Amino acid sequence: MCCEKQEPCTPRHLETASRRESESLDEKSIGLMVAEEPRRAAVFESFAIDYCCGGKRTLAQACENAGVSIAIVKSAIEELPDLSGEAEPNWLQADLKELACHIENTHHAFLKKELPRLKLLSEKVAAVHGSKDERLIKVREVFAALKEELEEHTLKEERVLFPYICALASARAPIPVPFGTVANPVRCMEAEHDEAGNALSRLRELTDSFQAPASACASWTALLAGFAALEQDLHRHIHKENSILFPRAVVAEEALMRNAVH
Ligand SMILES: [Fe+2]
Ligand SMILES: [Fe+2]
Repeated sequence: MCCEKQEPCTPRHLETASRRESESLDEKSIGLMVAEEPRRAAVFESFAIDYCCGGKRTLAQACENAGVSIAIVKSAIEELPDLSGEAEPNWLQADLKELACHIENTHHAFLKKELPRLKLLSEKVAAVHGSKDERLIKVREVFAALKEELEEHTLKEERVLFPYICALASARAPIPVPFGTVANPVRCMEAEHDEAGNALSRLRELTDSFQAPASACASWTALLAGFAALEQDLHRHIHKENSILFPRAVVAEEALMRNAVH
C-alpha cells in the first residue's frame, strides 16, 4: 500500500505515476530540477546542457537548444540510483544564511585557491608554447579577464549581497538598503554570471574542450584539467545562486514587505 488513495500499487498504477512524473519533467525549469536533486547536474553536464546560467529554461527547451533527445535525457535522469540520505542538504529548504555560508565557504573558497594557481599556469604555458599554438596567448588573456571579473563579483557578493540575504533570514521588518530591493543586485549578479559562462565557453572553444594534445607538457595538461574542474565547480556555484539563493531571497524580502504593510 503506497499510493495516495491507499490502493494497491499494481504495475498499471506504477506505470501511470511514472508517466505523469516524466511528463511533468518536460515543463519544469532545469534549475529547479537540479535544486530538487543535485545529482541531476552530472546528467545535464554529460549532455552539455547548461543548467546554471540557462537554469530558467524548461527541460524541453534546454534539450532542443542542446540538440539532444529529451527522451534520452529523461531516461538518464530516471535511472539515477536512489541515494536518499547521501545527497547534499536540500538547499530549497535550508536556512538562507546556511546556504550563503555554504556558497562562500565552498565555491568562493575554491575560486580563491584556484584562480591564482591557474593564472600562473596559463602565463607559463602561453610563454613556453604560445609560439607553437597561438590560441594559448588568447587563453591567457581570456582567463586573466575572467579571473578579475570573478574576484570582483565574489567580493560584491561577500561584502554586500550575502550579508543582506543573511540579515533577511532573521529579520522581522524590512531592512533599509541603498540598492532598493534585492532584485536589483540579483539582476546584476545574474548578468555577471552570464559573462563568466561566456568566458568559460570561449576557453572551452580555444582548448578543444579542455583536451590537451598528445605532446602537451605537464603544465599544459594541468592547466586544462584545472579549467575543466573550474567549469564544473562554477556550474554548481552559479546554479545554487541563480536557481536557489537569489529567488529565495526575493521571496523572503517580498514576505517582509507584505507583513510590514499589514
Ligand atoms: Fe558566488
Ligand atoms: Fe555569483
